[in-house]
Amino acid sequence: MAKEIVVSGIRPTGFLHLGNYFGAIRNYVRMQEDYDCYFFVADWHSLTTHPDTKLLREHVLRVVSENIAAGLDPDKACFYVQSAVPEIAELYLYLNMLAYKGELEKTATFKDKVRLNPENVNAGLLTYPVLQTADIIIHRAKYVPVGKDQEQHLEMSRNFAQRFNHRYGELFPEPGAFNYGEALVKVPSLDGAGKMSKSENQYATIYLSDDDDLIRKKLMKAKTDAGPETPGSEMPDYISNLFQIMALVSEASTLEQFRADFDAANIRYGDMKKQLAEDMVQFIRPIREKALAIRKDEAYLKKIMDKGAERARESAVKTIAMAREMIGLHYL
Ligand code: TYM
Repeated sequence: MAKEIVVSGIRPTGFLHLGNYFGAIRNYVRMQEDYDCYFFVADWHSLTTHPDTKLLREHVLRVVSENIAAGLDPDKACFYVQSAVPEIAELYLYLNMLAYKGELEKTATFKDKVRLNPENVNAGLLTYPVLQTADIIIHRAKYVPVGKDQEQHLEMSRNFAQRFNHRYGELFPEPGAFNYGEALVKVPSLDGAGKMSKSENQYATIYLSDDDDLIRKKLMKAKTDAGPETPGSEMPDYISNLFQIMALVSEASTLEQFRADFDAANIRYGDMKKQLAEDMVQFIRPIREKALAIRKDEAYLKKIMDKGAERARESAVKTIAMAREMIGLHYL
């Protein structure tokens, strides 16, 4: 039986962080064993907010290196850069005729980006979820491993795929966000406000490229307080965030011990942060070192990017041929 198809992408707008790893890449590494996987670097998407392309090459090569260092295996999954597959842009064009201004304007990520950057509200930003849909359905994917912040985009992708099928005939499965049946992940930032992010609140985000001392510094600075005064106190958000992050990289027994200390109103946040910093250093160091080595080997990077583009196009060309046929773009 043919394997089920999976697609997911990451924008090269900065270096990868713990949120990208635990929201997305960790599942890429698991899914590449059992599914037909397409993973890519969403360079076109980055142009919607980062029109200055001076750093683009470096960011793309870093993101490729960091994905591989974190366990993505380009021999198992098809791994490519979005702009190497022009068929995605063609499908985006067709889908744009099925997407309405009102629904696009209501998208939470659009509204956020308008708020952050009111002088650059371009049409690409508005139609961002349409391009994302094209990325996914160009391979007729069913599952999309992503973090919690992408949930609304996926809902829109289902709508656009459905509309195409309704108007032109059944071609696309309706894709869904995927996390092995668990809730989608949101890795919180260290300052107790929002989530870890590539370009915002950099001191409250742990990057896969952070060196040991920087990791320690960031964690020791994470917001805490004097601790609970009475046993069984409610946990403030910024402390709960630290526990959530600890759950990702520390042993279960370590987490349980600090949790019990908290419940007994006997916790020393300094000790907890020190322990978390050491566990984080152990987690990040091998990925960082491997990513640096891969980044230096441009011949290897070129080889895998060329191979990925070729495989991705093979699949995309087939879908576009069917889409054209079904739309009726064939005249003689
Ligand atoms: P991007 O580049 O912002 O993030 C890449 C992946 O990392 C996840 N992620 C997080 N997960 C948990 N906690 C966090 N703090 C956190 N921050 C980021 C994201 O959910 C995502 O899975 N629009 C997408 C890129 C994209 C895409 C696609 C994804 C373009 N086309 C097609 C899937 C399918 C984005 O901006 O991701």
